[in-house]
Amino acid sequence: MTASPRIVAVGGELPYRIHIGPGLQGDGQLLSAPIRGRHVLLVSDDTIAPLYLAQVRQTLLAARPELVIGQYIIPAGEASKTLDSFSGAINALASLGATRDACVFALGGGVVGDLAGFAAACWMRGVDCVQLPTTLLAMVDSSVGGKTAVDIAQGKNLVGAFHPPRAVIADTAVLRSLPPRELRAGLSEVIKYGAIRDPAFFQWLHSEREALLAGDDTALAQAIARSCEHKAQIVERDPLEKGERALLNLGHTFGHAIETAQGYGAPGNDNLNHGEAVAVGMVLAARLSAALGMADAADTGTLHALLLAYGLPVDIPAGLAPETLLAHMRLDKKNIAGRLRLVLWRGIGKAEVVPDVDEAAVLEVLQQG
Ligand code: GLY
Repeated sequence: MTASPRIVAVGGELPYRIHIGPGLQGDGQLLSAPIRGRHVLLVSDDTIAPLYLAQVRQTLLAARPELVIGQYIIPAGEASKTLDSFSGAINALASLGATRDACVFALGGGVVGDLAGFAAACWMRGVDCVQLPTTLLAMVDSSVGGKTAVDIAQGKNLVGAFHPPRAVIADTAVLRSLPPRELRAGLSEVIKYGAIRDPAFFQWLHSEREALLAGDDTALAQAIARSCEHKAQIVERDPLEKGERALLNLGHTFGHAIETAQGYGAPGNDNLNHGEAVAVGMVLAARLSAALGMADAADTGTLHALLLAYGLPVDIPAGLAPETLLAHMRLDKKNIAGRLRLVLWRGIGKAEVVPDVDEAAVLEVLQQG
C-alpha cells in the first residue's frame, strides 16, 4: 500500500508547493507541470545521477516529448560547491541554448540544490528551478525557501542569491537507500525545528526515534511534512531573512565555522558533514544561552541527550582551535556592523536572535568544546 502524497504550500509573492511521497520522481505530470518552455537542464552529482537521472529524463520525455534536455553532473560532495562548478552549469545552459523559459532541475542533496538553484538564479537573470531533493537534509531544509549559493575558501555560502523554486518534489522512496549517516544528518535538521519552535514535535522526535532511525516510511514522511510546514511558515513571512528566518540557523554559525575550519572534504572522510556540524553547533548555542543566563542548563542536557540518541556528534572535533572557529564565526552573514549576531534560545522551542553577543563568552564555550 502506498500512502498518498502530502502537499505543503509555501505562500508569499512567489508561491509554490512541496510534494512529499514515495515514487513521485516517476510521476510525469507532476514533474513536467512547472516547465514553461522547451529547455531543461538536469543538474546532479556522480552518486545520484547513475541511480535516478535516466528515470527522471525518461519520465519528463514521456510526458513532454518536445523537451530538449541537457545534463550537468558534478563530483559528489561539498568540495564541488564552487564558482568553477557554477561556471560549468552556466556553460551547460549556454550549450543547450536555454532561453528565459528554461527550467533547471536539481536532482540531489543540498550541494546540488544550492548550485543548480544559483545557476538558475543567474542565467538570463533568473530562470525556473525545480528541486528534486534526494537526501533527508535537502527535503527538510535546503530545497525549500530559495536560498542558493556556492562556497569560497573564506566561508560557506558566501556567494549566492535568494531564488525560490517553482516546485519541490521530495520522493521519499529514495530515502530507503540513503546511507545511515546521511539519514542521521537530516534528522539533525529535523530536531532543529523542534528546538527552535515546537516543543511537542521535539517530544515526538524523542518517542519516534527508533522508527525514524530505522527509516520507517510513515514516520519519515510525517517528520518531513512537519519540518516543511515550519519552514514554509517562516520563509513565507520572511523570504529574504530580514528577521525570523534567521531562527532557522540555530547551531549554524558554530556549525559553519566547524565546516570551514575542517575544509570542505570529499564525502566519506572524517570531517563532520553539515547536519553533524549543526548538531554540535546546536549544543554550543544551548551552552552559550545557559552561560549568558538566558536558559536553564537542563535544556542543554535534554538537547544533548536527544542528539546522542540519534547517533549525532555533540562535541567539537579534535584539532580545531577555538580562536580559528571564532574567526570564522566573525564572517557569518547574520553579523551586523562587525558584531556577532547569533541564534540562541530560552529553552526547547524558544529560539531567538541575539545581537551583539560577547565574543569572550563565545570563546569560553568554544574552549570547553
Ligand atoms: N537553512 C536556513 C534557511 O533556509 O534559511
